[in-house]
Amino acid sequence: MKVLLIGSGGREHALAWKLAQSPLMSEFYAAPGNPGIGEHAILVPLNIEDHEAVAAFCKDKAIDFVVVGPEAPLVAGLADRLRADGLSVFGPSAGAAQLEGSKGFTKDICARYGIPTGAYQRFNNAPKAKAYIRAQGAPIVVKADGLAAGKGVTVAMTLDEALDAVDDCFEGAFGAAGAEVVVEAYLDGEEASFFCLCDGKHALPLATAQDHKRVGEGDTGVNTGGMGAYSPAPVMTAEMVERTMKEIIEPTIRGMAESGHPFSGVFFAGLMITKRGPELIEYNVRFGDPECQVLMMRLKSDLLPLLLATANGTLDQVSAEWSDDPALTVVMASKGYPGAYEKNTPIQSLPEAGEGEKVFHAGTGMKDGVLVATGGRVLNVTASGGTVAEAKGRAYALLDRVRWENGFCRRDIGWRAIEREKTSDEA
Ligand code: AMP
Ligand code: GLY
Repeated sequence: MKVLLIGSGGREHALAWKLAQSPLMSEFYAAPGNPGIGEHAILVPLNIEDHEAVAAFCKDKAIDFVVVGPEAPLVAGLADRLRADGLSVFGPSAGAAQLEGSKGFTKDICARYGIPTGAYQRFNNAPKAKAYIRAQGAPIVVKADGLAAGKGVTVAMTLDEALDAVDDCFEGAFGAAGAEVVVEAYLDGEEASFFCLCDGKHALPLATAQDHKRVGEGDTGVNTGGMGAYSPAPVMTAEMVERTMKEIIEPTIRGMAESGHPFSGVFFAGLMITKRGPELIEYNVRFGDPECQVLMMRLKSDLLPLLLATANGTLDQVSAEWSDDPALTVVMASKGYPGAYEKNTPIQSLPEAGEGEKVFHAGTGMKDGVLVATGGRVLNVTASGGTVAEAKGRAYALLDRVRWENGFCRRDIGWRAIEREKTSDEA
């Protein structure tokens, strides 16, 4: 099978690493990819925003299957364009990608299908949004409607913070994404990410993970794309998974089909586990980054048939096997991230990874024959172990052998799960 993977981050390196192990793979291309992905696939310097160029490449190489990693090309309709040529594609249509592309769209589906989520209202002007916020009181959450690279959400603990966030949105801080604002109730609990494949009709639950979104140790400081993750998420017990499937995923599948946008791809449900049970914070329509890296480390099954079955409507005929061993990944980022940082700093050397270990490339490139850091999040140092504590130990031991002067990381990834492991040892 000839496969093209779209994307260039750590998530795509993890997908490429796993897909390349499939005996079904005959030719493997990635666009635009990165030097890590280049260990597994032939890199193609395509502009992935140019859908005609991607379609022409697929025709030229007689590609059978396209896997789209990131959300932006999905929201822009790349999957629709390629399907119009008869290609099999992993990833939702633009209509179905609204689940990530528009928070208001998702909230309306939740309301119509009784999916548990924070109570909300949508606004297209500041005075009405502010009046609603004053009536509700703080804490309260203000969100730009559209894609804002994870930066459009303000969890306001005071009324003033919430009112300022409304002004930011309508004054253009998030561009077109902020033309509409969703104000929603603050949910109190522990967060978890849940991943589930869906082919429009059938669902195949994958696994759970927890991300560390804040830049600073102890989960402090500003939000980032994610500084590290581990899988599974201990808060997602078998009962919580079952409730999430029944109360959140299944009604969403029905709602999407009935709204004329059947969902095909991976649901990445951001959940808050509250006293009432799982409640939806948001949907993403692609794998999490860096959550995907730990999922791929734990997946024992061949990934390619799972993604193919998702694209072809045969998910009821496959199953996924997982290692019980937890996996943990630590993000190494350029100093200054998520603010301004220096680009093209040299990475002197990467360590040789052993069994159950892998350094995924997230933001790297080659410059004059030297590996350099090209992005904010640059490397994802990943390991598995018998416990989260053991996986953490192995990941940091590997990370300490990375030689990159401009890199930094958090040293406490996994702390919540490790606390739990300690408590259950003592019990
Ligand atoms: P999002 O971009 O929607 O994932 O939101 C970013 C982060 O804001 C989430 O990971 C949560 O930590 C927090 N958040 C979003 N919505 C809520 C909510 N309704 N209640 C509490 N925290 C929230
Ligand atoms: N790690 C969070 C995300 O991929 O959106």
